[in-house]
Amino acid sequence: MILSPSLLSADFGNLQATLELLKNSGISWVHWDVMDGIFVPNITFGQHVIRLLRKKTDLFFDVHLMIQDPGRYIADFRDAGADMLVIHAEADTHMQRTLSEIRRSGMKAGLAFNPATGTECLDYLRDDLDMVLIMSVNPGFGGQKFIPATYGKIKRVREQLSGTNCLIEIDGGVTPENAGELVRTGADVLVSGSAFFNHPPFDARLKTFENACI
Ligand code: DX5
Ligand code: ZN
Repeated sequence: MILSPSLLSADFGNLQATLELLKNSGISWVHWDVMDGIFVPNITFGQHVIRLLRKKTDLFFDVHLMIQDPGRYIADFRDAGADMLVIHAEADTHMQRTLSEIRRSGMKAGLAFNPATGTECLDYLRDDLDMVLIMSVNPGFGGQKFIPATYGKIKRVREQLSGTNCLIEIDGGVTPENAGELVRTGADVLVSGSAFFNHPPFDARLKTFENACI
């Protein structure tokens, strides 16, 4: 299990210090929730903030784009230092093209699905993906309640991806209480915002999540 803490729940005024703390606590991935105020109601940060923080850490940057027509910004996020670039199926009419451009530009490519979106398109995108992100809340805000229908979706996506190395990431309402069942159902990467950042110290909190997944 990889835990990817969502900076949405961190202090935006102290991101550099937070990244250092995460690194020193044994964390390897960090999740950036980029929101444009159109695809989701909220606005957070963009490529310029990520580029500046890229210089401060070697953590794996897992960048979740909650923006309309993400294909417009592939080069920007590559130049900013994203390692994994995740687009939303609902936000892009030409997913296959965008995903292959993400890979061609040197990043790993991920595709996210809102809770009410079906995953049929994965049958046609198996060779274009490094990760599938299954939203377990409706995107836009941290601290929401986990939607239990996520478990059935994980099983379905696992079947669709069988025979590939594609990772499954779960995002929204993840806690030590549901982490174990999520991993047993087929999740590889767990995003956690509020249930991680509201419970320092980070090294102990990481252990709590890890122990829940044994
Ligand atoms: C929701 C974001 C999530 C969110 C998770 O729009 O994509 O990454 O920050 O936060 P929690 O863990 O608090 O639900
Ligand atoms: Zn996210």
